[in-house]
Amino acid sequence: MAAMARVRNIVVLTGAGVSAESGIDTFRGAGGLWESHRVEDLATTEAFARDPELVLRFYDMRRAAIQTKQPNEAHVAIARLDAEWRGRLLIVTQNVDDLHERGGARRVLHMHGEHLNAWCTACDTRSRWTAPLIERPPCPSCGARAMRPDVVWFGEMPYRMDEIHATLREVDLFVSIGTSGAVYPAAGFVRTARDLGARTLELNFERSQGSAWFDETRLGPATELVPAWVDEILAGA
Ligand code: OAD
Repeated sequence: MAAMARVRNIVVLTGAGVSAESGIDTFRGAGGLWESHRVEDLATTEAFARDPELVLRFYDMRRAAIQTKQPNEAHVAIARLDAEWRGRLLIVTQNVDDLHERGGARRVLHMHGEHLNAWCTACDTRSRWTAPLIERPPCPSCGARAMRPDVVWFGEMPYRMDEIHATLREVDLFVSIGTSGAVYPAAGFVRTARDLGARTLELNFERSQGSAWFDETRLGPATELVPAWVDEILAGA
């Protein structure tokens, strides 16, 4: 990428593919979560109202599982970029695991929420939560037994969209890593960035649905592509 030296503001968008090599299932494709589970049974407010035990059991299982996983070389490389990049950087993740943070990254925005938070729908407080929710434990703040996973379900608005859009307006380089480009609004960020003049790069196992919007696509496993790209961008900085 010839124009690298002029890059100051970077937005990195990550998806399930960045955590795949840590052993966390992706959503789509062979073996993906949505192949063996129905979204409408587990990831909507209607599903939670209809069968809270089913939904809580599923998220309890996922919350327990991610705590046994470790960040991989892709998370660590992104954290290195975070530590060493002197310009602006925002790591927008669709992932609800905490592997970016455990890999050492700081400038992370969880637009789809976090497995390790519980959200009390009675007092609107979010609490760090590593244990199960199935027994409906009392909220540490108000005592109501009204906590749900702090994960954005289909039909709900992702978090901090104003901040993301404000950052996209200033971005020079937009890099999408390990996401299928199937879920909006995240899938539309590349078009916004590109329309505003940013360079766009995709690092993924296969072409995403919005692949045509990227100036460049590199295909392969995140643990190989991401460290190589971070080396390159830091060398040109
Ligand atoms: P997907 O499961 O839709 O896509 C994962 C992408 O990662 C696919 O394009 C894979 O080819 C790619 N991939 C798999 N393994 C990889 C690897 N080792 N290295 C690089 N790429 C790899 O996951 P997302 O795009 O993150 O939403 O899904 C978006 C949203 O849909 C999720 O945040 C979730 C889901 O329903 C909510 O829960 C609201």
